[in-house]
Amino acid sequence: MNEKVTTTIDPDLCVGCGQCVRVCPSGTLSMRDGKAQVTGDRSLNCGHCQAICPVGAITVSAIDEAMSQFVNFRTDKNWLGYGDFDTSQLVRLMASRRSCRNFQAAPVDRSVLEDLVKIGCTAPSGTNCQLWTFTILPTREAVMALGKGILNFYVKLNAMARNRLLRLFLKSIGKPELDSYYRQYYANVRKGLEDFSRTGVDLLFHGAPAVIVVACKKQATLPKEDALLASQNILLAAHSMGLGSCLIGMAAEPMKRDPKLQIVIGVPNDEKVYAVIALGYPDENYQQQAGRKQAAIRYFES
Ligand SMILES: Cc1cc2nc3c(=O)[nH]c(=O)nc-3n(C[C@H](O)[C@H](O)[C@H](O)COP(=O)(O)O)c2cc1C
Ligand code: SF4
Repeated sequence: MNEKVTTTIDPDLCVGCGQCVRVCPSGTLSMRDGKAQVTGDRSLNCGHCQAICPVGAITVSAIDEAMSQFVNFRTDKNWLGYGDFDTSQLVRLMASRRSCRNFQAAPVDRSVLEDLVKIGCTAPSGTNCQLWTFTILPTREAVMALGKGILNFYVKLNAMARNRLLRLFLKSIGKPELDSYYRQYYANVRKGLEDFSRTGVDLLFHGAPAVIVVACKKQATLPKEDALLASQNILLAAHSMGLGSCLIGMAAEPMKRDPKLQIVIGVPNDEKVYAVIALGYPDENYQQQAGRKQAAIRYFES
């Protein structure tokens, strides 16, 4: 909302239909003498005015054309109208995406990872701030460098959680987190750490050859929501491009708690990590969709 206006309107092209004014969420444009004009000094730079103008009179220079250009597929840039898509295919894609726990070692081309980031950025963001960041770990070595930091975090956490007196003391002063961690995760994490040191089996990233870490600048309006919406786009697109994906909360949570872990992969302190996405070609195939548990739906009508 606080951005400088980057919209320009060609008065010779404008036919005065007023549609840009109607869709502008920040009141940046007005009709004057039968033509649209930029009259505000602040803008979301969302591009709605440019997208709706029937005569191409509007340019929003904050919008980077390169973000709509992809290397691995061609896409129609014309707007898909409301209802002009096969919902059954959309739902089939959504319901077929699975969290992949078995990846092939084959690397993922950087252009594929960059296309995924651009697809992520088609998500909505609070006040259109788009302050998300995407740190690509494109090799198994890079993934394991992050993995080592995460494993050390859990070694220390498990050492603390093993200490019964410490758990009880923290609980007694209103900090039950270590005790709940002990009850819910300690044993599995200990087994994961032991397996990794004994056999090298990677239960954290499931052997993924690439990772995208989705973070957001702290000054974003709604950083967590923005990062997670972009992440969901990436997961769906990965499936459509033949890749398996898995959100790794077991890596994201330590990164939220220990700022040193994000510095290791070059994410600065003015950003917060919200998602770690393991990516790679899948070494698993399903026979059918998995389905879902019953949802809690309620109505309020009054
Ligand atoms: C926030 C979040 C964190 C997750 N963390 C992990 C994780 O650390 N390791 C893992 O193997 N799966 C993780 N998952 C995957 C879930 O287990 C998975 O989404 C769930 O079992 C449903 O399966 P599906 O994704 O195939 O539909 C995570 C999912 C979410 C949404
Ligand atoms: S949408 Fe285009 S033609 Fe219509 S008023 Fe705005 S600038 Fe003019």
